[in-house]
Amino acid sequence: MTSTDRPWWRDAVVYQIYPRSFADANNDGTGDVQGMVERLDYLQSLGVNAVWVSPWYPSPMADGGYDVADYCDISPMFGTLDDADAFLACAHERGIRVLIDLVPNHCANTHPAFRAALSAGPGSPERSLFHFRDGSGPDGAEPPTNWGSLFGGSAWERVVGPDGPEQWYLHMFAPEQPDWNWANPAVAEFFDDVIRFWFDRGVDGLRVDVADGLAKDMDYPDTPIDPETGLGQATFYPGHPWWNRPELDAIQRHWRDIADSYAERGLGERIFVCESNVKPLDALMRFVEPGRMHTTFNFDMLWCEWEAGSLRAMIDRNLVAHAAIGAPTTWVLGNHDCTRVVTRYGKPETGKPFTLAGTPPEWLHRFAEYFYPLPTDAALGRRRARAAALLEFALPGPAYIYQGEELGLPEVEDLPDEVRDDPSFFRTNGRIAGRDGCRVPLPWSGTRSPYGFGVDAEPWLPQPAAWADLSVAAQDGDPDSTLSLYRHALAIRSAHPALGDGTLAWSDEVPGHVLYFTREPGFGCLVNLSAEPVPLPGGAQVLIASGPLEDGLVPTDTAVWLDLP
Ligand code: BGC
Repeated sequence: MTSTDRPWWRDAVVYQIYPRSFADANNDGTGDVQGMVERLDYLQSLGVNAVWVSPWYPSPMADGGYDVADYCDISPMFGTLDDADAFLACAHERGIRVLIDLVPNHCANTHPAFRAALSAGPGSPERSLFHFRDGSGPDGAEPPTNWGSLFGGSAWERVVGPDGPEQWYLHMFAPEQPDWNWANPAVAEFFDDVIRFWFDRGVDGLRVDVADGLAKDMDYPDTPIDPETGLGQATFYPGHPWWNRPELDAIQRHWRDIADSYAERGLGERIFVCESNVKPLDALMRFVEPGRMHTTFNFDMLWCEWEAGSLRAMIDRNLVAHAAIGAPTTWVLGNHDCTRVVTRYGKPETGKPFTLAGTPPEWLHRFAEYFYPLPTDAALGRRRARAAALLEFALPGPAYIYQGEELGLPEVEDLPDEVRDDPSFFRTNGRIAGRDGCRVPLPWSGTRSPYGFGVDAEPWLPQPAAWADLSVAAQDGDPDSTLSLYRHALAIRSAHPALGDGTLAWSDEVPGHVLYFTREPGFGCLVNLSAEPVPLPGGAQVLIASGPLEDGLVPTDTAVWLDLP
């Protein structure tokens, strides 16, 4: 099958826009939809096929917009529904598809349905839309179960009504994010309407937030106690009462039917990409079985250390698993939840998604494998990140770019505590840095903040003084810049018949700690992860390189794309 016969989403390069930090057209310090419209030419020149827009809905912003107060409107912070329609139309005019975030696991505690549930009281149909339970212990003063929240502390919050404390409600994330009760068919019907609302407006797809957590074990069993927190284990294990439950199958098949009905009516394809950390890989593959979701993020690349053996094993594992089920593998180097790739690869140890702000709390020792120590070698990290981008775009299947990756932006690791906004920072008393460092507004132009993000308003998170050289304008005409590398690579990727979805074959022709694979017709990708430069394969011509070659050799932490005889 050639790339022209394949559905667009099997080959696509998708650019993630985090609206709050992308472009601030009304100069109030916060990005907005009009800013997104104005930067569509930039995205077109970058060469992406689609964008994924993180939540743009009305929200009290307790979790950066992943606390949705109205699923069918745009936050006044970001604009209006008319702006969203304009964005869709202008993106489509440029051949750019639009995916948006669907947040079906939880809403904001200001959502009218949750407010109604609070007022309606125990046992009411309104409360049955959420997980309200009586507490345990004397007077129900203890949470109903031992479940721990992913943001720290208990996953239950007690309601304090006019007559004092009463029932508790479940929140897997912040207390401001009550979980919907997917065992109640009214919740599924509500989300059917939400999905159709956006598909009818022309949205091409939905990124499903926490896609693996919607269904809960309605017997609410305690989970094994984590000795360090004293709470039930919140992270995935097989049989966990909220991760990857069998009920997800029916939910996802129903959504797929809704999406397919658009194509059947000649209205174009609508697709899903799931956010899920389900392990093992075989369990995740159930999500992309025929009749279920189109794609699911493959976070393995994001978590993988910068080491040839680990990368090759990770790539193989994913390609084999996805091919067996007929789904394309998505590749991801970063997103709004993880330490930026330049910084991850600049650490003494690579392969961990988050940064610690200070002394690890005792209980974090258990999770030490997820957290990086300081310091960072940004130059090393950027060199590797550039090579990783060429690797990512050469692999079979769709690829995601998190805004700013194309500029080589590092994580901002020294944000002062008083500007931080992430609930995971507050709920761990500041011991986890949280995700603000990857959400700093983009630098577009100029020599000082706000670097063209807005006109002169102070951005909602401060931008580093050193970002002048990293702005779009600074990199625009520079052939050696990371932006130029991305543009050039994406142009080759879209034109080359070997790239996009398909297969690869490993080659051992180049010795050492290298990744070298070929794709038909006539394409090779070589990444040198050894300490010494390596030669090019015989007869190969370089199409693009992530850094300068040395006497015809490929230096350490450098990738090349090759035209093969
Ligand atoms: C989102 C996070 C968010 C969490 C809760 C994640 O999947 O990517 O940003 O905090 O869901 O909604």
